[in-house]
Amino acid sequence: MGADSIQGDIRFIDAARQMGAQVDSGPNWLEVRRGAWPLKAIDLDANHIPDAAMTLAVMALYADGPTTLRNIASWRVKETDRIDAMANELKKLGATVEAGPDFIRVHPLAPAGWQPASIHTYDDHRVAMCFSLAAFNPAGVPVRILDPHCVAKTFPDYFETLFLVARAAEVPVICIDGPTASGKGTLAAEVARLLGYHYLDSGSLYRVTGLAMRRAGLEADAGHEAQIAALAAALPLQFTEGKVLLAGEDVSDDIRTEAAGMDASRVSTLPAVRAALLALQQRFRRLPGLVADGRDMGTVIFPDATLKVFLTASAAERAERRHKQLISKGISTTLDSLRSDLEARDARDSSRSVAPLKPAQDARHLDNSQLSIEQSIDQVLEWWQQVQPFKSA
Ligand code: DC
Repeated sequence: MGADSIQGDIRFIDAARQMGAQVDSGPNWLEVRRGAWPLKAIDLDANHIPDAAMTLAVMALYADGPTTLRNIASWRVKETDRIDAMANELKKLGATVEAGPDFIRVHPLAPAGWQPASIHTYDDHRVAMCFSLAAFNPAGVPVRILDPHCVAKTFPDYFETLFLVARAAEVPVICIDGPTASGKGTLAAEVARLLGYHYLDSGSLYRVTGLAMRRAGLEADAGHEAQIAALAAALPLQFTEGKVLLAGEDVSDDIRTEAAGMDASRVSTLPAVRAALLALQQRFRRLPGLVADGRDMGTVIFPDATLKVFLTASAAERAERRHKQLISKGISTTLDSLRSDLEARDARDSSRSVAPLKPAQDARHLDNSQLSIEQSIDQVLEWWQQVQPFKSA
């Protein structure tokens, strides 16, 4: 969408500009950034952008004087009476609002004037979306949007998208990287559970990609890289109740075999596959926080993570653990073959050109060869106590 779009609401950017936003545009893009701050109050005939103008009514809270939107009688006969709805909800936040048959005037809020509020959305997606801007208030008072799902009418993942651009830097992330069978999965899942955080098992994404590749009859080589990357980008994947579903089918066991691990390691050397999985992994970063395990969480996917742990154990120890695990599942293998598989996987993961397995510069090293799982968890939680961002709040 460029400045010459024929979509009528494009004129919203003129109003945003008048309020102080800096807008650059090209043939098919717009870039909006903060210009004047506080915003400048405006007096606008908004008849040509009735829907989009609702956003201006919330922006008005951040202006240097009262903002008036005129010629908006049509607001009264939309999803709800939008003039009344906007006036009611703005007042809950502490704002002074005047309204008439065809206008609304909103006075800005000083930091001390903001009040925490639960915003009614009247089954009106526009109300839900525009009031989300109130959450940027300088007072830091909480703003609750009731029935947020009403955005589904036009923009189902509006809030997820907003949190991606607005909150990403604030959502705490703990990265636990390390070689195969170091115990990072167990450690990360348990730390996530204890902190009530989300959990990303990034290896499973490579494992599922490997499985999808096999099923499509492809091999993990450069000749098929683009096709495998296309599969990775569109994986119909769901994580529910500890299970991994691919197109609705439970593949949790299929991706845990040694052969699936080898396929995962192979597809993970393909740069286009890694690129295809990047955004998918970053979408796991949601409040209240994330614990992510993998090879490159701290180096590539979440370089600004709050805490990075590089977990290792000797190859002998890791082979021993994997052996016990497989025996307990009734799968027979020898320790020697496991150890050489493991070393081959380490070598490939460490020597590949993109995102090789290596500790981030700011990672804390934890060798758990001689530690119990509980001791490793305690160590990570102790480090977390030392660095967590909201400790004093
Ligand atoms: O952690 P795991 O064994 O489930 O990982 C399987 C393979 O996926 C591993 O050999 C390398 C690859 N992988 C990766 O390259 N980057 C990650 N962040 C996670 C896994």
